[in-house]
Amino acid sequence: MTTKLKDQSGAGEDNRACGVSELSLDELRSKFRRDYDVFGSNTISAQLAELAERREQVPVSYSAPDNGCWVATTYDDISSTLRRSGRGFINFPSTPNGVNMQGSQKAMIPIELDGPEHRQFRQMLDPLFSPKRVQALEPQLRRFANTLIDRFIEDGHCDFAHDFALPFPGGSLLAMMGWPAEDLEQLNNWVGIALHGVPAASPEDSDAARVRAHGEMRQYFFELIQRHRSNPGDDVTSHVIQAEVNGRRMTDDELFDLCLLMMLAGLDTTKSVLAQSILYLGHHPDKWDEMFARPETLDPAIEELLRVTSPTSPTRVVSAEVMDVGGLPIPKGERVHLPVPAANRDPQYYPEPDEVKFDRVAKPHLSFGVGPHRCLGAHLARLELRVAFEELRRRIPKFTIDPAQQPVDRLGMTWVVDNVHILFPPGAREHQG
Ligand code: HEM
Repeated sequence: MTTKLKDQSGAGEDNRACGVSELSLDELRSKFRRDYDVFGSNTISAQLAELAERREQVPVSYSAPDNGCWVATTYDDISSTLRRSGRGFINFPSTPNGVNMQGSQKAMIPIELDGPEHRQFRQMLDPLFSPKRVQALEPQLRRFANTLIDRFIEDGHCDFAHDFALPFPGGSLLAMMGWPAEDLEQLNNWVGIALHGVPAASPEDSDAARVRAHGEMRQYFFELIQRHRSNPGDDVTSHVIQAEVNGRRMTDDELFDLCLLMMLAGLDTTKSVLAQSILYLGHHPDKWDEMFARPETLDPAIEELLRVTSPTSPTRVVSAEVMDVGGLPIPKGERVHLPVPAANRDPQYYPEPDEVKFDRVAKPHLSFGVGPHRCLGAHLARLELRVAFEELRRRIPKFTIDPAQQPVDRLGMTWVVDNVHILFPPGAREHQG
């Protein structure tokens, strides 16, 4: 099966030399067809193995199920497509099957906008997520990390994914956005349903739950926007309500879409990087020590962990008549899925790509994307990761993964791992109550 595909695709040769520009779209699709389960029922490691094999055999392929999309796998093809956002590629709809799963009214702001409109929103949003504004949150983040650790430190065990990785990113996002801290659990529940459906439920039941959650979120955020409008503070939500983009203020629908995106983009992603990293570090205690060998070893270690745990993958839609992806002429309207984990493990730039090496001298990873849509929350995410690892190291210097519990991977719009049970010598709480 794979050999035949290799022959069909002409992988390793210059595709243009195979006369692909002469082919109709149907012929192109069928010549380069290799189906891919985008939202995979696979484990993360099986999905990574599949991507590595595709990179070898058919680096750009067409996957027919679930409305169809092209799948790129090399660092160069993925980064060059991301860089051409707004120049031959657009970002709407941003899902590989073209289905609006988030339930936004129109294009999600700013992720599904392109060109000058997108630039205007980024000019308004970028200063609100600047390193300086983010840095100001550090003491608060440290306190929150320790509040969470206090809840399980005396037990000598916890489900790290549920007890720390899930709530921790919310503490900083909610503080930045000016949303009530006590609503975190509810917001995380909605995000879980929106991105992953209901665990063990049928697709129909999950879709029904998504519709319900969307209605509840809409009501929640419309009320919250009203409160910030009448009583503004120095938070992102208040600034955005008052800002003018294109000579006008945003409507409540647009504000809701923006809040929704912040939740979807800001909560599950950092959670996933944290949970996957601790799972890896629990199995590799030498790496946990190496991260903290010297003060300057921590940041490169975090970048390497971001490379190997990249949780989210963009999709672009061809908007020009035809665009070149890896030598294939992909025509207008076609979706191109860009699995960042495949780019981040391309052996052309990362020798022994599955090895975690904190001293790699390599191309920067693509975990935060690249080009006009590069992650708005990258400074925040990096600070969250640094504070989390530092406080965990201080309070829990040694831990192992509980062999009696099995981690569970879920590959939806983000790749996450649940059930990361760790064991450690019990410690003392630092705060009462
Ligand atoms: C480790 C954590 C994170 C990862 C791996 C991550 C990854 C990404 C990636 C790959 C993109 C580009 C999507 C594309 O090109 O279509 C992106 C965009 C975005 N991210 Fe993050 N993200 C993280 C954390 C956050 C946080 C904490 C926030 C909260 C503010 C955030 C907000 C956004 C927004 C608003 C965009 C859209 C930017 C635009 O379209 O201009 N992200 N993120």
